[in-house]
Amino acid sequence: MLGNFSYCNPTKLYFGKKSLNYLNDELSKYGKNVVLIYGGGSIKKNGIYDAVTALLKENGKNVTEISGVMPNPTVAKLHEGIQIARAHKADLLLAVGGGSVCDYSKAVSVSVHCEEEPWEKYFVRFEEPSCEIVPVGCVLTMVGTGSEMNAGAVISNLATQEKFAFHHSFPQFSILDPEATFSLPPFQVACGIADTFVHVMEQYLTVTGVSPLMDRWAEGILQTLIEIAPKIRANQHDYDQMANFMLCATMGLNGFIAMGVPQDWATHMIGHELTALHGVTHGQTLVVVLPALMSVMREQKKGKILQYGERVFGIREGSEDERIDRTIRATEEFFRSLGLATRLHELQIGQDTIDEIVRRFNERGSRLGEAGNITGDVTRRILELCK
Ligand code: NZQ
Ligand code: ZN
Repeated sequence: MLGNFSYCNPTKLYFGKKSLNYLNDELSKYGKNVVLIYGGGSIKKNGIYDAVTALLKENGKNVTEISGVMPNPTVAKLHEGIQIARAHKADLLLAVGGGSVCDYSKAVSVSVHCEEEPWEKYFVRFEEPSCEIVPVGCVLTMVGTGSEMNAGAVISNLATQEKFAFHHSFPQFSILDPEATFSLPPFQVACGIADTFVHVMEQYLTVTGVSPLMDRWAEGILQTLIEIAPKIRANQHDYDQMANFMLCATMGLNGFIAMGVPQDWATHMIGHELTALHGVTHGQTLVVVLPALMSVMREQKKGKILQYGERVFGIREGSEDERIDRTIRATEEFFRSLGLATRLHELQIGQDTIDEIVRRFNERGSRLGEAGNITGDVTRRILELCK
């Protein structure tokens, strides 16, 4: 049965060629003090920094910068950003970059006016913000996370080697120009496609019969990704393909396909551990875990794996077991077609990491997945299959 839900997504999207011009409309809505937040410098090489700073100047903004936001942004960097945003009396945090920059800006947004230590409050104790949230705007340059239209932010703690998320801060607006992604390294594009694919799977591959409509939205995104991935890999400057990929990613994690349906998210939770312990890029972690998770959870997820196999990969022949095997193989092959590794040994990750993740999950009493039955011990079975 379709579950009860409430849904509100307040992020205003501007999508398409030259959509950066809409930044003018948005800037006029906020006060003078803008903090421009970006990563390690890609926006300086592809001209986006110049374009954004010119618009900020035209609008008479008083701008300070936080630069060097790293992939998988850290708590230490978050503390630095909070100080800068406070000192500048920020009226707007303008994130220009990928999911890391966008997430980071959201983490700053709920921390500027908060007395408490943000890592402990939001990421360890999972408390709601009880302070004013500084508005965030996003100019997206990397595709995959969906951070441009959701309230999520993921922060890494290097001291404890942990990576946790909160869901408290939507961007007020996000500007998505597919041409801004043309300069991405192919590996990042592959990881972005994988990330989007797995976001959809986490909200889809649970049980059957809840919502034919939500199922078909999810299957539509998965089929679109499978269709466009080879074209994007052949030519990353193909505007149409990148535009459709961008829309898939946004629709994949803006809450839309999650309405009233159960969700899994165990692949992400296990993947975050691989990033926290080894710095593996987010999308890359997911494609290692998902096929193995499907194998271990094949009885519970049987109906949905069969439906997914049939509707997404056209797998109709053979016994149920054969079709499930072929569907899992097709999933892994799709990930390999992106040029990504799908086994732990390819990432030089060994038994000690498996043991450590299982130890952590047991210690936390983790019960992941749509049925809350992916415990530390089940996680061990999944990770053993990833070797
Ligand atoms: O730092 P710069 O120099 O900008 O380089 C970045 C970075 O090295 C580069 N890049 C981005 N746009 C570019 C570009 N290079 C050339 N041209 C461009 N146009 O790409 C690299 C990766 O960027 P990053 O922002 O780290 O990638 P992504 O968007 O995949 O974000 C990953 C982070 O998002 C979190 C992940 O855990 C990870 O921390 N996630 C956030 C989610 C959310 N908010 O809902 C959900 C996801 O599941 C995910 O967990
Ligand atoms: Zn993800």
